[in-house]
Amino acid sequence: MPPRTVYLETYGCQMNELDSELVAGRLRQLGYRFTPEASQADVVLYNTCSVRERAEQKVWSRLGEIKKRKGDEPGLVVGVLGCMAERDGEAMIDRMPVVDILCGPGELDKLPELIDNAVRTRASLSADAPARRSANQVALQGDTSRRSGTLAAAGDNLELLDLSRTISPVDEGRSRSAYVRITRGCNKFCTYCVVPHTRGAEMHRPPEHILDECKRLADAGVIEITLLGQTVNHYRFEHGASVSIGGVAQPQKGRTYKGSHHRDAFSGEHVTTFADLLGRIHDEVPSVQRLRFVTSYPRDFGDDVLEVIRDSPRICRYLHVPAQSGSNRVLKTMNRGYTIEEYDEFLDRARSILDQPEIGRPLMISGDVIVGFPTETDADFEATIEMVKRSRAKNQFIFKYSPRPGTVAYDRIPDDVPEALKRSRNNTLLAIQAEISDEISREQIGREFEILVEGFSRNEKKKRGVDVKPGSGMVGLTVGGSSPALATETETEPAGLAQFSGRTDGDQIVFFDVDTSATPADDLIGSIVRVRIDDAGKLALQGTRIK
Ligand code: 5AD
Ligand code: SF4
Repeated sequence: MPPRTVYLETYGCQMNELDSELVAGRLRQLGYRFTPEASQADVVLYNTCSVRERAEQKVWSRLGEIKKRKGDEPGLVVGVLGCMAERDGEAMIDRMPVVDILCGPGELDKLPELIDNAVRTRASLSADAPARRSANQVALQGDTSRRSGTLAAAGDNLELLDLSRTISPVDEGRSRSAYVRITRGCNKFCTYCVVPHTRGAEMHRPPEHILDECKRLADAGVIEITLLGQTVNHYRFEHGASVSIGGVAQPQKGRTYKGSHHRDAFSGEHVTTFADLLGRIHDEVPSVQRLRFVTSYPRDFGDDVLEVIRDSPRICRYLHVPAQSGSNRVLKTMNRGYTIEEYDEFLDRARSILDQPEIGRPLMISGDVIVGFPTETDADFEATIEMVKRSRAKNQFIFKYSPRPGTVAYDRIPDDVPEALKRSRNNTLLAIQAEISDEISREQIGREFEILVEGFSRNEKKKRGVDVKPGSGMVGLTVGGSSPALATETETEPAGLAQFSGRTDGDQIVFFDVDTSATPADDLIGSIVRVRIDDAGKLALQGTRIK
């Protein structure tokens, strides 16, 4: 049989991008080939997002398109992976019988088996005969069987998917930037959020597994690692309580945060905290030039973490800490678990420890805000405006509230802010944030930064006729997500002045010119250069290389 060809499209967050990478790696090991063209594939997979309705609509329209094709190609296998599969469950198949495979984000280790079953049964099915679909083509956790607790993790092969990550050297076109998962799932249950329902209970990966993965990535040439978790700063692993199955240490259930002690006050067990983990990766994997992490939860952020960042030259001065709202009443209804005064206090504390513009290391904050959360009044929205102004984030991701079935807000609080008001609040905040972002950019003029060179700037690429499609290009097309932008560039460029793009460790984009007849582009890309900022444009800072 010729190798099966897979097309994989990814929606949503960085966690999904990482999942797609792991799934693709596993399938490649099993002999599958990947194509960037859905039309060339005999297995079409969508790794989906449920966080807002719009993300789901895109997938529904993709499924509508592929339905037409399936009429002509009954052997075609269509799979929906990720949060939407988990949230909609088999209702998805009822609505779109074109779907052969459903695989939740907590079941991705089972995907090869599901594809295998689907391919074998598919040929004998017609597109409108969902009833005969094999039961072995659906893998969902369901709310009742949230993978919870160390012992319940027995037979949990999900960790094996991360452990089996295939890491090829960066000179084979792989990105020099990589994600590493440290925590899965979420226990917070913010009332608007679908994630605890789709990704299940919070589980922390054993630190040895994380360190090992970072080392393997570094050995393969990766120089920037972003640690991932829904509430990444809650990472905590209790070694005395760890369990190993078949020689594989198992992820550990998240517990109530008890502070940042190295010795647990209650059990006396040795604990690896988030601060310990950051410190260990920084010290034990020195070839990683930049270590970052997302997303942080504003509460329980100990000074120990901030101090490790301050004392570690290769940990980035960048924190993504969403406030979501500036109104205490709304924060309470969202079940966020902190007041806006506590959020402000955290930012003050973080800045007092980490903000060092004089050494080219200003602390950059980014956040998320939801506007139009049910019951949000003008006064609540004013409080959010004030919060945004006080926070002075480098950027804020602003979202209109989207009611998600299955969440507490959806069930109990009517979506009573009219769409037009959501839109106008969204626009108001965008304009305010744009001014703040401009101000922050202008503050950088005259400062010197270490810049990690990522490649030619967008304009330079256009000039050279290089494809500037968004996304990593790693596994099919990546839609609607940010991706590690650090791809290896192999084009041979004419000698002369060229504009490059890179990032500060506070995640600000910088353009600067380099004479490539003196320094070839290949030597520059992936290296760190020193740049003085001369100007601040809309998209990026402009600088001059000084070393
Ligand atoms: N509606 C709008 N925005 C949401 N987010 C999460 N759930 C919703 C929702 N139901 C936003 C939050 C979160 C980001 C990833 O998406 O701001 O931080
Ligand atoms: Fe979307 Fe959240 Fe699932 Fe990521 S975890 S894919 S943001 S719903």
